[in-house]
Amino acid sequence: MRAEKGSFWHIGVIGGSGLTAGIELEEAQEIAVSSPFGEPSGPVVTGRLEGIRFTFIARHGAGHRIPPSAVNYRANIDVLARCGVTDVLALSAIGSLREEMAPGHMVMVDQFIDRTHGRNGSFFGTGMVAHVSLADPVCPRLSRLAGEAARLAGAAVHPAGCYLAMEGPQFSTRAESRMYRAWGADVIGMTGMPEARLAREAELPYAMLGMVTDYDAWREDEAGVEVSHVLEVMHANARIARQTLRLLAATLPAERTHSPIDHALDHALITAADARDGGL
Ligand code: ADE
Repeated sequence: MRAEKGSFWHIGVIGGSGLTAGIELEEAQEIAVSSPFGEPSGPVVTGRLEGIRFTFIARHGAGHRIPPSAVNYRANIDVLARCGVTDVLALSAIGSLREEMAPGHMVMVDQFIDRTHGRNGSFFGTGMVAHVSLADPVCPRLSRLAGEAARLAGAAVHPAGCYLAMEGPQFSTRAESRMYRAWGADVIGMTGMPEARLAREAELPYAMLGMVTDYDAWREDEAGVEVSHVLEVMHANARIARQTLRLLAATLPAERTHSPIDHALDHALITAADARDGGL
């Protein structure tokens, strides 16, 4: 799946809830890209911001119709790779598991705990088995650049956070929410996995800017997650997210040098599925 990357940036953006309507790109055009992994969530739109190429997919599809469990994460990542993106930035609505990460804030997610199940989480598995390191699932360079842009856009930005990926679509019980806090998770969402692991397999540097919409159910003195409140914060966050992308484009270094994860598969353990000796 390796695409040769030159010195130009081409940012793939996966927009979550709140960004379904897309982002404002100049010279925007919808492109048809097919993938052996099926249909991506929706139209793939490519264009420019401040002269930098961006390609966008709305994770939940046009009209926000695809629930987290039904998103074709493999097709979304594969299609971005086929478009030649150099890096993938996910913008995702998240709940907060920490007092200091208040609604309206942004979090530069740097770790994940995956509690999703039944989702297709690998490009490999038939004919070839590949074990790729996921110890550091996020590209620190892209995360830093996106976080700085969000700060310039006026957001309160937290420089790190562990994201608990839950299956949904229901929100957590209070007991689950407290358990996730005890595990060390800081924020919670339904879509960060397997997206991040697939980006790694595709050798695409991936970062997530999580946009806090609510405090999850762990706070005793509050009602659980209230959807109307989530939607209100989500729309405000979306405005800042759009500004963040423009500022990211304006502040990217003129030349893209290699990311540490550009060649992730060089360090993977790859075995033939039918290996008689030495297969795992
Ligand atoms: N997305 C936004 N808020 C969330 C929450 N509290 N739990 C899971 N996903 C979310």
